[in-house]
Amino acid sequence: MSSFKDLRIVDNFYQTSSYFPMPTVMISTLAEDGSTSVGSYSLCFPYYIAGKGYYAMVLEARNSSNTAQHLLAGRKTVALNFMPDGFGYHKKIVAQGWPGDTPAEKMKNFGFTLEDGLCIEEDPKTARPKVVAEAYQVMECTWMSDLENAEEDIGRKLEDGCYPPPYRNFNGITSQYGAHFILRIDKMLMKPKYHQNIIDGVKGRLWPNVLICHGYRDSKNFWFARTPRLVPEMLPLREATLSSVRYAADRTDPDVHFTDDALQMILNVPRIFLPTVLKGCVKWAKDHNVTEITAKEMQIINDKRAKEKGKG
Ligand SMILES: Cc1cc2nc3c(=O)[nH]c(=O)nc-3n(C[C@H](O)[C@H](O)[C@H](O)COP(=O)(O)O)c2cc1C
Repeated sequence: MSSFKDLRIVDNFYQTSSYFPMPTVMISTLAEDGSTSVGSYSLCFPYYIAGKGYYAMVLEARNSSNTAQHLLAGRKTVALNFMPDGFGYHKKIVAQGWPGDTPAEKMKNFGFTLEDGLCIEEDPKTARPKVVAEAYQVMECTWMSDLENAEEDIGRKLEDGCYPPPYRNFNGITSQYGAHFILRIDKMLMKPKYHQNIIDGVKGRLWPNVLICHGYRDSKNFWFARTPRLVPEMLPLREATLSSVRYAADRTDPDVHFTDDALQMILNVPRIFLPTVLKGCVKWAKDHNVTEITAKEMQIINDKRAKEKGKG
């Protein structure tokens, strides 16, 4: 017999039929008059995380919201402002969540501070909404309206508060009331303290106090939680044997040889990542006219990788 009960899955199941922690994100977009308009959102998650040529988030939004309407009008730049817990923040964030207010009405009593992001410095010609200064991190993004031909949705007009078909699967107007937006991350802005923590190799006590949202749950309240103390848990190392790594290394490229001491340095790489790591080493060797990778070259490759990770 199961130890679980079967719960009916209904609309907005993430907040009506489950316990689902989400980020609290204030999203800035450009209103018609070029001013910054900010709405509150939680359904905003990583979408393309590697191997796609760019990185992207996905936002799930009511398609009649100001945010969606600004994007669907072709003003495709947005800023995702990730909010920490702070004095009075819940109230101010929920105030930006009232459906139906115009951007001007909403922004009249906006409780946070707006400032320029970092994209505008590099590319002053592209109009960008301002970012929320109280955020611990901000992703300045652009809606990828070419995916799934969602640009055809630009300029579509709401009829009686909702969109008639056709609907797309994952980008643009996806249902009568909903829209999904795949947002390319143009820049990741991070407050110096948390930036330093990532560069230095993260310490739990230097984590931002991420405001966790558990959704609108009892037809009355948005439920929030602060970040609890973070506890690290080491991934147990499963070292491969030198001979098994040698087997893979010798089959990676006939012109590049790995010495034993070089392979010793990658024994703890999980098996499924080993071909990628070896191919990366071979690529480096070819770029540098190297035919034998010893511990010295492996160290250079590792340092380069570490540097790329911490760039910024
Ligand atoms: C904390 C919080 C999270 C929210 N998350 C979402 C969400 O993920 N998607 C959505 O469509 N609405 C969400 N809402 C409701 C929107 O804030 C609401 O539709 C609001 O009108 C959007 O603002 P805008 O019209 O200025 O874009 C959320 C509200 C709050 C307070």
